[in-house]
Amino acid sequence: MKLIKPFSIGVLALSSLMYACGGGSDKSSETTATTPPPQDTKISLEEKYKDDPVFIKGSAKAKEAGCTACHMLERKVVGPSYADVAAKYENTPENVALLTDHVIKGSVGNWGEIQMPSHPQLEKSDVEDMIKYVLLLKR
Ligand code: HEC
Repeated sequence: MKLIKPFSIGVLALSSLMYACGGGSDKSSETTATTPPPQDTKISLEEKYKDDPVFIKGSAKAKEAGCTACHMLERKVVGPSYADVAAKYENTPENVALLTDHVIKGSVGNWGEIQMPSHPQLEKSDVEDMIKYVLLLKR
């Protein structure tokens, strides 16, 4: 019994602490917030690259082509987030060509079991612009 006591006191103290924090809408608890996250986790990728011509051109084309139905910049939806794709593939001409091919012909198995449909109607040069934009999105 002696062993259990300090432990249960600890749990009690912890849970009351959490309660205090959770209910904290008063100013004093807000100022004790943890240290702010480093700069680049605070800035969204959109914010970071929005003035880059590659971003402007590629994102407009990706929206027009309907890629946004399955892809978001920083969150996985149906397909991987663009940020995840950019983290996986180096921004090289070889990878731009490879991924352009995957978008036009469709792909499956690189990210999971869900298939990306083919996009045979799209111009290769347009898809290249989209891929350059996707691979730009490094954190
Ligand atoms: C119907 C949903 C859907 C649409 C629309 C879609 N994608 Fe995808 N995309 C996926 C899925 C699912 C994957 C993962 C495929 C895999 O695992 O190989 C993927 C993968 C990718 C990849 C990574 C490919 C690889 O080989 O790693 C890129 C780049 C990409 N999509 C770009 C695009 C672009 C650009 C468009 C618009 C022309 C687009 N996607 C439209 C669902 C979609």
